[in-house]
Amino acid sequence: MANYKDIIAKFSDKPGGIIEAYHALQKEFNYIPPEAVEEAARVFKVSEAQAYGVATFYSYLSVKPRGKYIIRVCESAPCHIAGADEVIKAFERELGIKVGETTPDGKFTFEFAECVGQCEGSVVVTINSRPYHDVTVAKVPTLLAECR
Ligand code: FES
Repeated sequence: MANYKDIIAKFSDKPGGIIEAYHALQKEFNYIPPEAVEEAARVFKVSEAQAYGVATFYSYLSVKPRGKYIIRVCESAPCHIAGADEVIKAFERELGIKVGETTPDGKFTFEFAECVGQCEGSVVVTINSRPYHDVTVAKVPTLLAECR
């Protein structure tokens, strides 16, 4: 696993590099660890509060530890109408966590997503950005079994 300092250093000369660095950090660790935010503040010469501000401004960035598998259920209108609520409840039941939480073993994080542009396959679920279409309550255990 790459070192967070090396990742940040790669973007240190770029304008707007802090956001690119955060993206790269999140790709590596699935979230932005607190020590990396402190390092980013130092490297990009902003206050720690500002560095946290950037990290928490974008909904796709997270400063909270996230699981190995990020499961997101699309909650926009077409998926909602197709039964996203039921699918969400099924994931919550199977995982034993609520939306926004991570399982204690660090394996799964469960989140909402906005329309991912594949409404013809409503309900759409993404697992680590890979989309799954026509997801129903009955398919939830199978999807999770693929990850386990
Ligand atoms: S509303 Fe879910 S993919 Fe568009």
